[in-house]
Amino acid sequence: MHFQLTEEHEMIRQAARDFAQTELLPGVIERDEEQKFPKEQVRQMGELGFMGMMVSTEYGGSGMDTLSYVLAMEELSKIDASASVAMSVNNSLVCWGLEKFGNEEQKRKYLTPLAKGEVIGAFCLSEPEAGSDATSQSTTAVDCGDHYLLNGTKNWITNGNSASIYLVIAQTDVAKGHRGINVLIVERDMPGFVVGKKEQKMGIRGSDTHSLMFTDVKVPKENRIGEDGFGFKFAMKTLSGGRIGIAAQALGIAAGALELATKYAQQRRAFGKVIADHQAIAFMLADMATRVEAARLLVYKSAWLKDQGLPFDKESAMAKLYASETAMWVATQAVQVHGGYGYVKEYHVERLMRDAKITEIYEGTSEIQRVVISRAHLQENAINS
Ligand code: CAA
Repeated sequence: MHFQLTEEHEMIRQAARDFAQTELLPGVIERDEEQKFPKEQVRQMGELGFMGMMVSTEYGGSGMDTLSYVLAMEELSKIDASASVAMSVNNSLVCWGLEKFGNEEQKRKYLTPLAKGEVIGAFCLSEPEAGSDATSQSTTAVDCGDHYLLNGTKNWITNGNSASIYLVIAQTDVAKGHRGINVLIVERDMPGFVVGKKEQKMGIRGSDTHSLMFTDVKVPKENRIGEDGFGFKFAMKTLSGGRIGIAAQALGIAAGALELATKYAQQRRAFGKVIADHQAIAFMLADMATRVEAARLLVYKSAWLKDQGLPFDKESAMAKLYASETAMWVATQAVQVHGGYGYVKEYHVERLMRDAKITEIYEGTSEIQRVVISRAHLQENAINS
C-alpha cells in the first residue's frame, strides 16, 4: 500500500496551487460579494487542462486519472469553491458521462469542446420537486419520431447561465418509472430554451446557479445518450463519480480553513503569547487536522478505486458524506479560532464556512449519502433469515 503521491501527481497539485494563489485569490472576496461568475478564471482553467482532466487526449482532454482531478479540485477549492464547482460539474457530470456513454459523433461534437474548456457544460437533473427523489421527474421528453419534445423546469442548475451544452434528464414514459427516463443533450440556442432566474445563495456565490425553462424544445433523437430509458441510470452512475469531485471540493474547503486557522493562531497574541500556545486552540487545530486527514484518505481511496476500475459507489458516498461534514465542522472551528476577525470577510474563513454548507446538500444531501451507504453495507453484510 502506497501513501505517497507520484512526482506527476505532486506537479499537478503544485500547478493547481500556484494557479489558485495567483489567479483565483485576487478578487475572490469581491466575486463572492457581487455573485460574479469567475468567467476569465474558468477560461484559464480550460487552457490549463483543468476542465477535462480525465477525458482522453483523443477528445481534447488531459488524459489524467481521477486522483489528479481530486488533487486539483482540492487545491482550487481551498481558495475558490465557486470556480471549483464549475470545474467539477464540467469534469464529472458532463464530460465523464459523455465519454463513457456517448456515441462517437456526440463525443466529437460535444465532448471535445467541453474537455478543451472552450465551452462549459451543465447537468440538469434537479427540479422543484425532484431533488433527492430523482425518479420523480416532471420534465417530459415526448418521443416524436425523429426528435423529442422537451417541456419542463429545472432548478438550481450549476453553470446555468454560463453553459452552452446541457445534459437534461426527462421523463419519456411515466408508466415505466425510472426506466422511462432519458438524458438529452440540449444546446443553448435551441428554440424554446430559456435561462431563468439566478439564485441568491448563502455560499458559492460566484457559482452561476439558475433555473432553466424548456417549452416545446425540439431535441433531435441523435442527442439522446444511450438506449431509450437509460437516463436515470446515466444520472446515478454519473453522480456516483461526481460525488468524488464534490468530496474533493469539501476536502479543499476544510484544508483551506485549516491552513488559515493554523497561520492565524501562530501570529495572533493573547494573554502574553501566540494563541497556538494556548492548549484550547492547539487542541482545536489537532482535531481539525485529524479530520482533514481522515477525509483526505477517504477521498483519495474513492478516486483510486475508480481508477482501478473497481466498484466505488459506496466509497464515493462515504467520502462525500465525511468530507462535507468535515468541511462544515472545520470551517466553523476556523472562524472560532479567528474570533471576531473570523466573522469579517477579509479573513476568508467566513466565506469558507458558507461555501462548506452546500457540499452537504448538492450531488445528494448527507441523508442521501447515508441511504446509499447503508443500502450497500446491509447488502454486503446480509445474513440469511
Ligand atoms: N449506478 C447504477 N445504477 C444505479 C445506481 C448507481 N450508482 N444507483 C441506482 N441505480 C439503479 C438501480 O439499480 C435501479 O435499477 P433497476 O431497477 O434496474 O435495478 C434504479 O437505478 C433505481 O434505483 P433505486 O431503486 O435505488 O432508486 P431510488 O429511487 O430508491 O433512489 C437514490 C436512489 C440514491 C435516493 C437516488 O434517487 C439519488 O441519488 N438521489 C439524489 C440525487 C442527487 O444527487 N441529486 C443532486 C442533483 S445534481 C447536482 O447537485 C449537481 C450540482 O449542481 C453540483
